[in-house]
Amino acid sequence: MAADSARGQAMQTRRRHGRGCPGGYTVGPFSPLPLRMSPTRVLTGITTSGTPHLGNYVGAIRPAVAASRAPGVESFYFLADYHALIKVQEPARVQRSTLEIAATWLACGLDPDKVWFYRQSDIPEIPELTWLLTCVAGKGLLNRAHAYKAAVDKNREAGEDDDAGISAGLFMYPVLMAADILLFGAHKVPVGRDQIQHIEMARDFGQRFNHLYGEHFVLPEAAIEEHVATLPGLDGRKMSKSYDNVIPLFAPRETLRKLIYSIVTDSRAPGEPKDAGSSNVFQLYQAFASAEETEAMRGAFAAGIAWGEAKQALFERIDAEVAPLREKYEALIAEPAKIEAILRAGAQRLRERYAAPRLRALREAVGLRDLALAGQRGGAHKPQGKAAAPVFKQYRERDGRFYFKLVAGERALLQSVGHESARTAGELIAALKRDGGAALHRAEDGAVRLGEAVVGRLLEDATLDELAEALARLVAEDA
Ligand code: TRP
Repeated sequence: MAADSARGQAMQTRRRHGRGCPGGYTVGPFSPLPLRMSPTRVLTGITTSGTPHLGNYVGAIRPAVAASRAPGVESFYFLADYHALIKVQEPARVQRSTLEIAATWLACGLDPDKVWFYRQSDIPEIPELTWLLTCVAGKGLLNRAHAYKAAVDKNREAGEDDDAGISAGLFMYPVLMAADILLFGAHKVPVGRDQIQHIEMARDFGQRFNHLYGEHFVLPEAAIEEHVATLPGLDGRKMSKSYDNVIPLFAPRETLRKLIYSIVTDSRAPGEPKDAGSSNVFQLYQAFASAEETEAMRGAFAAGIAWGEAKQALFERIDAEVAPLREKYEALIAEPAKIEAILRAGAQRLRERYAAPRLRALREAVGLRDLALAGQRGGAHKPQGKAAAPVFKQYRERDGRFYFKLVAGERALLQSVGHESARTAGELIAALKRDGGAALHRAEDGAVRLGEAVVGRLLEDATLDELAEALARLVAEDA
């Protein structure tokens, strides 16, 4: 409850500042409102290799848009266009799919002012991190990835060489996906069951990296949506592009009607009772109808509704939900430059806020460092002797406010701004330890910020890298 009110306040602050960014910290400059607890970061990627269909809508888009409105979460939605290149090598299709998927998510209510909405290929830190992770990823683990193994099995069955026609991209897919997730410190990753293994691999790579270089990465968890329906396609198998049985989400109304009328049913005549449980028409209906409507339809099945009539009701029900979204979609897709601008702006803010500072800390951690600073810092994340261990020193000034410094041995690195209470100062220290490596950045006026919270200023000739490094060491020692 306390967290709720803090969040409410933080949201108000955000609104007041007219900022479109869902940041972890929304504390006004030099006015230490209570720090919002770090929200849960939820991240989802959508591979841009197809046209969204009803199965995507019910199984992923609709629940994700609803979840993005929940309080206390910071959501990340991105178009995984680097992933698309693994499957699709037709440039026009990649471009078209990216546009369609972006327009679809926006039409379905994703608000780019409230969530992070971006395109993978606009964030160069993702491939950069992919390489850092590649260097800690076990090849043996990648050999066991389902998608890769399935491709090998297929080759064996066909009597081909194991790796015939398999790109290194397919093999490395899980590392790229791990970079997507670990870069932003995602806690939860809503995915289908087929993706669980990839999340486990992301944990594995993150853990290995942390073990070698200090606690840089949050280890993500897969969030499996148990209650979300898997839609049957036109032929009754799971709706999937690979079965060629899909109903496109934004097919024009008449095409939608035709497709729905082409759903395969049994040959029971009008008047004959029909089994709702085993009917794909019913299952589709249920995915769009309220509980009462569903029960009424169940009754109609038992009473022998004709297939044509059931399909007409299904068509009307789906169209009632989809028509207003279709209208928005069509308006959006007619102005691709607007979508391009939304994506670019999202990526730019996200890079400033998270990706760039995080990569800075990671480069530092692995030893890709400024040579001019050689010898001033440790060789590894392990403390180089007690004397230089960084510490936070808290104190109260004559102005009655509470301050802290971060000091490493002889060097003072950071001077905080004044806080009304020791508690808010302490909360900021805790947040720095938790997210310092990820969200530290320097504002135009030179102030060090954590997300939007003003922390203070660097002392002597300290750099942000040095600060991030000191925080990483502090956390590694605490652990
Ligand atoms: N591999 C995911 C899929 O095919 C898409 C994806 C790419 C993704 N990167 C991700 C999903 C990161 C979640 C998190 O569905």
